[in-house]
Amino acid sequence: MSTQKTKSIPNKPNTTKKSSPKKTPRKSPAKKQAVTTRRADQYDDPNHNYLHYWNGRDYEHASEEVAITRLIKDKKFKHAVDVGGGYGRLCLLLEQYADKVTLAEPSQQQLDIAKEFLKDHPEIDRKLLQAGDLKFKGGSIDLMTVIRVMHHLPDPTPEFKEFHRVLSDKGYLILEVANYAHGRNRVKYILKGKSLPKEPVDIRSAENKRKDEIPFVNHNPHTIIKQLAHAGLKVERTLSVSNLRSPGLKKIVPQKLMLRVEKSLQPTLANIYFGPSVFFLVKKAK
Ligand SMILES: C[S@@+](CC[C@H](N)C(=O)[O-])C[C@H]1O[C@@H](n2cnc3c(N)ncnc32)[C@H](O)[C@@H]1O
Repeated sequence: MSTQKTKSIPNKPNTTKKSSPKKTPRKSPAKKQAVTTRRADQYDDPNHNYLHYWNGRDYEHASEEVAITRLIKDKKFKHAVDVGGGYGRLCLLLEQYADKVTLAEPSQQQLDIAKEFLKDHPEIDRKLLQAGDLKFKGGSIDLMTVIRVMHHLPDPTPEFKEFHRVLSDKGYLILEVANYAHGRNRVKYILKGKSLPKEPVDIRSAENKRKDEIPFVNHNPHTIIKQLAHAGLKVERTLSVSNLRSPGLKKIVPQKLMLRVEKSLQPTLANIYFGPSVFFLVKKAK
């Protein structure tokens, strides 16, 4: 069981933190249970609004929507859960494919932002939940999305076990993996004559590499596939996502063109895990 006392610099591993985080009091003592009790206050820093992180990232947002749509189009779901869904950025897309959508998020601040962001969609449930302890009935969820959360889970073993528990036999999990084995790193390692690490790599700045700081790792997709298999989960399809993520390119290439190219690269580059983000379509192993 791991307990993380963390404060947040979401998606900004190299930024200097200026203010103290809000401490969220623990309501109950840690329970003795098989699931993780990771702290929920990582994204509760009042000085950081994750909604603003997305300013100027239309290409990345659209790339992720393209990937998710590609993986679930032609399917219809009863209950979709966006695990670690933040302020609900992807919930509206999920609603097009599911009768019911739940935003499951451990940060109260993110849920508060979601209240405003999803104000015209009161039918979307917002629940304060950790990925390792989702509380849903076993086998009750037929679509789960876990996007940009793996950064914060150096060892996702308890979470994968929980995903297996709540997923229905025919259900799908879309798992986004922050990919350490992306094209540029691959070239770097080849030039150094080294092989890519199998373990997650801590990508925080030196000053943020403290025990009380939020974990921030990139993973080797091969290791994630093994960890999923260990939990009884099997990857059915892979996409390489945000392949053109580069501030320089975004400045000079029109977004429409970027997305057209991105769309064709997602399946083409999947086998070599080229992009900084890998999307796995996962099912329960038979
Ligand atoms: C980078 S944000 C991504 C939010 C959203 N999925 C998106 O893509 O817009 C990471 C999210 O993971 C959540 N998170 C961190 N640790 C988590 C855990 N153990 N269980 C569930 N969510 C977690 C954070 O609270 C935060 O909302």
